[in-house]
Amino acid sequence: MTKLGIILASARPNRVGEKVAGWVRDAVPADVDVDLIDLREVALPAFDETTSPKAEQPKTTVHAVSWAERIGALDAVVILTPQYNGAYPGALKNAVDFLYAEWSELPTILVGYGWGSAGEVLPMLETLMTRVGADVVSSIGLGFREDLSVEGELFVAEEKTATLHEQLTAIASEVPVSVS
Ligand SMILES: Cc1cc2nc3c(=O)[nH]c(=O)nc-3n(C[C@H](O)[C@H](O)[C@H](O)COP(=O)(O)O)c2cc1C
Repeated sequence: MTKLGIILASARPNRVGEKVAGWVRDAVPADVDVDLIDLREVALPAFDETTSPKAEQPKTTVHAVSWAERIGALDAVVILTPQYNGAYPGALKNAVDFLYAEWSELPTILVGYGWGSAGEVLPMLETLMTRVGADVVSSIGLGFREDLSVEGELFVAEEKTATLHEQLTAIASEVPVSVS
C-alpha cells in the first residue's frame, strides 16, 4: 500500500490549512494510506544538528531521528503551504532543512493557498524542494475569492479537484511494488 504524507505547515489556532488538508484528504484514492503530518504537533526546535543533513552523518537528537523516520516511511508527499509575506512559514523551511536523503526523489505535490492563488510561495517552495532532491510533480494554487474564503470555506472548482485526484492517483500508481 502506498503511504502518502500530507504536511500541514500552518500552526495558527484558526488555520485555514486544516480545511485545505481536508480537501486534499478527500481526493486521495481509497487504497492509499495517509499520514497527516501537522508541523504544530511535530514541534521541531530550530535546526540544531551538528552537521548538514546533506553530509549524511548520523542524526544526533531524538527529534531529528523521529522526523527522519516519519518522512522516510513515505512513498509520496503533499505539502500544504500558506503564503506568509510572499513565502512559506519558517516552520516548514526548518522541517525541510532537518533532512536531505529522505526528500530525495520523493514524489511531491505542492498545494499553496493565499491571495493570487499562492503565486508567490509556490515557485519558492518548488525551488526549495527541488534543491533537496524531491521529485516535484506539480503545484496547485488555491486563491482567496476563486477557491476559498479567508475564513476557510472551500468552493474549489470541480476541475481543480479532479486534477488533484488524478495526480494523487498517478503518484500512487507509480510507486514500485515491493517484492518479498
Ligand atoms: C504573517 C502573515 C503573513 C501573510 N502574508 C500574506 C502574503 O504575503 N500573501 C498572501 O496571499 N496572504 C498572506 N497572508 C494571509 C494568509 O494567506 C491567510 O491568513 C491564510 O489563511 C494563512 O493560512 P493559515 O490560515 O492556514 O495559517 C498572511 C498571513 C499571515 C498570518
